[in-house]
Amino acid sequence: MLEPFVSSIDFSSGKLRDYDNKLDRKLSSMLGMFADKDIFDQMLAKEDSMVYEVFEKEVPEQSGQLAHAVTVIHPGKVGNEYFMTKGHFHVKENNAEIYLGIKGNGGIIMQNKEGQSSYYPIEPGTVAYVAPYWAHRTVNTGNVAFSFLAIYPADAGHDYGSIEQIGFPKLVVEQNSHPELVDNPKFTR
Ligand SMILES: [Fe+2]
Repeated sequence: MLEPFVSSIDFSSGKLRDYDNKLDRKLSSMLGMFADKDIFDQMLAKEDSMVYEVFEKEVPEQSGQLAHAVTVIHPGKVGNEYFMTKGHFHVKENNAEIYLGIKGNGGIIMQNKEGQSSYYPIEPGTVAYVAPYWAHRTVNTGNVAFSFLAIYPADAGHDYGSIEQIGFPKLVVEQNSHPELVDNPKFTR
């Protein structure tokens, strides 16, 4: 049986200090996910930059366990589209998730299977509720690292599926130095 434990977040870096696993997502792992393919290819040819890192505590992927991880999205854009996470539905689609903003400024874009979308900005202290059945992706809309804590059922599972190919109904882009939502030309219902 798993025993109780604690971990701690470094609020200056936004990172989890005593994580068990770290997942690195570089540009090369996000082929086809940003709208401007030409600029993406140019950036990747120059450097395989880190887009985001996930620091997680290890808990068994069992019903009743709560997985929790801190994600740090680095500042950056591909063209005018902000650096972002891949985004996913849960395999167990009726499993919800809680996000808590730790450092920096960003946002969460969500979609349901009917193609509706929802967006909320996240700053330190923001608590976002990802309702069951909604896919979710976070973006860094600032000039420094954007970090948040995610808590979710450990057996929820990640379904990247259609999102890797098509994305969300809206892109989160910078326009006149501000985040704006624009229609994703690839998204059709
Ligand atoms: Fe999730």
